[in-house]
Amino acid sequence: MRILVTGTAGFIGSSLAERLLARGDEVYGIDNHNDYYDPALKEARLARFATHPNYTHLRADLADADAMNRAFADFEPKRVVNLAAQAGVRYSLKNPQAYVQSNLVGFVNMLEACRHGRIEHLVYASSSSVYGANRKLPFAIDDAVDHPVSLYAASKKANELMAHTYSHLYDLPTTGLRFFTVYGPWGRPDMSPMLFADRISRGEPIDVFNYGKHSRDFTYIDDIVAGVIRTLDHTASPDGAHDALHPHPGTSSAPYRVYNIGNDQPVQLLRFIELMERHLGRTVEKRLLPMQPGDVPDTWADVSALRRDVGYAPNTSIEEGVARFVAWYREYFQRGE
Ligand SMILES: NC(=O)c1ccc[n+]([C@@H]2O[C@H](COP(=O)([O-])OP(=O)(O)OC[C@H]3O[C@@H](n4cnc5c(N)ncnc54)[C@H](O)[C@@H]3O)[C@@H](O)[C@H]2O)c1
Repeated sequence: MRILVTGTAGFIGSSLAERLLARGDEVYGIDNHNDYYDPALKEARLARFATHPNYTHLRADLADADAMNRAFADFEPKRVVNLAAQAGVRYSLKNPQAYVQSNLVGFVNMLEACRHGRIEHLVYASSSSVYGANRKLPFAIDDAVDHPVSLYAASKKANELMAHTYSHLYDLPTTGLRFFTVYGPWGRPDMSPMLFADRISRGEPIDVFNYGKHSRDFTYIDDIVAGVIRTLDHTASPDGAHDALHPHPGTSSAPYRVYNIGNDQPVQLLRFIELMERHLGRTVEKRLLPMQPGDVPDTWADVSALRRDVGYAPNTSIEEGVARFVAWYREYFQRGE
């Protein structure tokens, strides 16, 4: 199977590409290697599979429509996974334009390329942040998501809406996955697990927002990758039971689906930090601070729809996941006890 994956120098994209290559797919990866965080980590992730005979890499920007169209014409992918995006909630308060370019302009370019390339299935990254100001837990696909609290969240919700128009107008099968705090080896330096690991290993105090009362549905990278592949292999189809008088937000009369992909087991931030401290062999001071603008206090994914439709079954406990993350962190950065 020829699969085009964007964001293959990124955290989730690199692990996905590696797994697809291992099962025998041909992968064409696209990434612009931007410096939102250390590009050396992106190079190191790519080095795991860049020389695989079934892998081709293109360093290009999603916002460059000509480059995207050429890539689709050259490779003729059957399926596409769009993970490249400007990620991060807090950064969207500092640099909103980056989100417009990658997540809106870039996403439309991907939709157009998929439409003209007659792609069998487009799977794309959405985010738990679309639940925004919602407080009903767990977050469910049936819930209205009309109150985003960051431009990042709004751009991800916009992706779902844009995808629906292409599914409807051009019969393009699309599936959006709302990822919930992904963690594990090769993770992102701007996310809490890596930030905490850096601080703990240097013996520096940790800023813990919302006085540590935050809980997050931390989801281990291997469970995410397995779920993305199951979803990719399950092409979205029109929902025969769709009722236009009572429309369900996650399905449609068009070949369109949106799912949560999380662990369904939220963990308090202070518990997560405690596990990191145990594995790094050091405890540090926690500075308890108020909530940050754009943040949400709790996340928890209702994953029943993804379980039912594709057999998604996350099975990595937080204890095991943190142990594996810390083992990777120590080896990669040569830090620790
Ligand atoms: N990691 C999480 O917990 C999480 C949670 C919710 C949603 N997501 C979404 O999942 C996707 C993957 O996230 P990740 O954690 O792997 O992030 P990441 O930043 O590690 O990976 C994204 C990759 O895309 C590339 N990229 C960004 N803009 C680009 C552009 N315009 N053109 C080409 N390449 C570009 C970056 O260089 C990077 O390598 C993103 O869409 C993100 O918004 C991630």
